[in-house]
Amino acid sequence: MLSVNRIALAPMTNKQSNEDGTLSDNEYKWLVRRAEGGFGMVITCAAYVSEDGKGWEGELGIWDNKHVEGLSRLAEGIHETDSLAIVQLFHGGSRAPQSITGVQPWSSSAHIIPGTPLKKIREATVFDIERVISDFTNAARRAYNAGFDGVELHGAHGYLFHQFLSAEINKRTDQWGGSFENRCHLLRTVLQNLRQELPTSFIIGIRLSPEDRANFKGVDFDEAIQTAELLADEGADYIHISAWEALKKPDKYQEGDKTIIRYFRDALPEDVTVMVSGEIWTKEEAEKCLAEGADMVSLARAAIGNPSWPKLANDKKFEPVRPPYTHDQLKAVDVSDSFVDYLKRWEGFVK
Ligand SMILES: Cc1cc2nc3c(=O)[nH]c(=O)nc-3n(C[C@H](O)[C@H](O)[C@H](O)COP(=O)(O)O)c2cc1C
Repeated sequence: MLSVNRIALAPMTNKQSNEDGTLSDNEYKWLVRRAEGGFGMVITCAAYVSEDGKGWEGELGIWDNKHVEGLSRLAEGIHETDSLAIVQLFHGGSRAPQSITGVQPWSSSAHIIPGTPLKKIREATVFDIERVISDFTNAARRAYNAGFDGVELHGAHGYLFHQFLSAEINKRTDQWGGSFENRCHLLRTVLQNLRQELPTSFIIGIRLSPEDRANFKGVDFDEAIQTAELLADEGADYIHISAWEALKKPDKYQEGDKTIIRYFRDALPEDVTVMVSGEIWTKEEAEKCLAEGADMVSLARAAIGNPSWPKLANDKKFEPVRPPYTHDQLKAVDVSDSFVDYLKRWEGFVK
């Protein structure tokens, strides 16, 4: 997997897509501006692969051929800068609200999302599972046809794949749940299908949560490593660890010296790229991640106010502009009103 540098734009939901999931000019500008700023890989926001997998308004869609035109324009814009273009593929599972999709949410097992008002989430039928596998495959094919270099399967943050991986949520007793292998079955099958259907040069990465956080429960650290190993065996090109604090040690092994990055790097074959994100603001922090064994870093919040971070980072005097940002500051870096509204939810981000 070749990238012009080791710095990726992390996937960021920006609520700027048109109502039907097609790409808007604002989303194009937001992403291409970061590609022009030197990010060697630009990963889109989570894009929903099925109509019943949409998680929020303004989300990018990739569930229908009508989305391909906008995606092609985006891939072309990103490629003009030599950056790699990756779409993050997503299904919300239980976190695809009925108020948005019009249908009852489903997941690995019937459950209630902790911390939310009682909602009925039904257990997936085998038909739902087979359909979503084919939706992911079709979505990846659309990304390929649109000219993207690859896709990232969103296996983190409590969405559908994570709901199958989670021992706390997935209580199924069939081949899609129960044992560790069975809980990995959905993600593994989707990856196998993508590998079969698409050329080997098409990049396939997987984003994983290495441990529990907030509402995202049921992932044991050792199992997360084993999941990554299993996906590497199936031909994953990169594993994108969503650590929220890139340089932290795992909660499970606080007494040791090893960072999360080091555990993953030690476990995975050399040719599988390890990417990490979380609280990377300075070049020194990024370099520490590389020194720990990461092959690539991905930046989310730092890239919002600093669209040219990679181009500027080599300048010794470069100091990233940090939040809180004013509305005007954000507008000046191609963050439109709907995205600014969303960013107000992130504490201390918008003045
Ligand atoms: C506004 C915003 C939207 C995000 N949307 C997504 C998303 O669509 N998919 C995803 O995997 N992570 C998403 N994340 C998480 C980031 O990719 C990243 O893992 C997290 O913000 C930690 O990195 P940072 O400290 O550089 O911000 C989002 C983060 C932010 C700030």
